[in-house]
Amino acid sequence: MKMNPWTLSVLLLLAGPLGADPDWHVEYPDSFCVVEGSTATIPCSFTHPAGLRVQRVVWCPNHEICHGTTPNVYDSSKVRADSRFLYLGDLVGNCTLKIIKTVKRDAATYRFRFKTNAGGFTGPRGVRVRVTDGEDVKVRSSITDNVVKEGGQVTLTCTSACSFHQLDVHWYRNGHVLSETGPALHLSSLTNDNTGNYTCSLDSGGQNTSAPWSLLVLVAEGKPESGSDWLLPVSVVSVLLAVFLLLLAGLVFAKRRHAQKKASEVIQKQEVDCKQEAEGASEEVNYSTVHFKPSSSRSAPGPEHEIVYSEVVR
Ligand SMILES: *[C@@H]1O[C@H](CO)[C@@H](O)[C@H](O)[C@H]1NC(C)=O
Ligand SMILES: *[C@@H]1O[C@H](CO)[C@@H](O)[C@H](O)[C@H]1NC(C)=O
Ligand SMILES: *[C@@H]1O[C@H](CO)[C@@H](O)[C@H](O)[C@H]1NC(C)=O
Repeated sequence: MKMNPWTLSVLLLLAGPLGADPDWHVEYPDSFCVVEGSTATIPCSFTHPAGLRVQRVVWCPNHEICHGTTPNVYDSSKVRADSRFLYLGDLVGNCTLKIIKTVKRDAATYRFRFKTNAGGFTGPRGVRVRVTDGEDVKVRSSITDNVVKEGGQVTLTCTSACSFHQLDVHWYRNGHVLSETGPALHLSSLTNDNTGNYTCSLDSGGQNTSAPWSLLVLVAEGKPESGSDWLLPVSVVSVLLAVFLLLLAGLVFAKRRHAQKKASEVIQKQEVDCKQEAEGASEEVNYSTVHFKPSSSRSAPGPEHEIVYSEVVR
């Protein structure tokens, strides 16, 4: 921005004694983040030389000097009905500004100006207000999955693109508000009662609420209260298993006996077959022997005939 000396002097006059004089000062954060729909309380304080009286205080967006008729969001000299911008400060040294149910278009750099009976001053840097989506609100947990053993612990954190200075955080389990507030919820000595869906919200109305985060507390086995839960299924299963094993054993036994019987029959039959084959083979051998060795076969028929005779005789 190019300025001529006249403009510069006017600016200096309007802005008051800059920098050098510590008596004139406005203190506020450089930036402030707020989730859409929630309430922002921007801390602010100011000082001026002793003996002066503050006559007018003004907050205005996106203006270096914030003087005169500059559009503003708060002006102590005017009554403004139905404003979401509330001045929580005073005319002495507190210039805290509250923005109720922030909307996207509230994002701006706001400056505070106060006018005394002997000149005024505007905090030069201003506070840059960022407004982020309500969808940004999330529950983060200190564990990787959603299952914790009984007696264990977990810390839940309510996070968003904003850091939560000056913001109320409310916690809910299954939609019911918990007594704990603040960005972190520490749960320890967990019992089954802690199982449920956890959400957090950035305002007491619960309008901008996070997606649910579900916690399952695993009750340790062998505990009396859990005994009846698994005893019945386990006993039913063991009875069924025993019956099945008995049936199986019976079946195997029967099959074995059957197989043994069959096997002995087969063996007997095989023995019979073998005998028959052996007899057939010997006949063949005998025949070939007879056929190819007529000289030796001559003596052979003798005993054979004898046997046949003896059989016939018998
Ligand atoms: C947050 O709250 C505001 C105001 O009630 C509402 O307009 C906005 O839709 C909410 N955002 C979410 C993500 O619920
Ligand atoms: C300024 O006023 C607000 C709202 O009343 C209060 O919360 C805050 O503590 C005050 N700040 C100082 C520095 O006194
Ligand atoms: C928690 O959320 C899950 C899924 O969103 C749902 O199935 C379950 O019923 C909820 N539990 C309770 C206690 O509301």
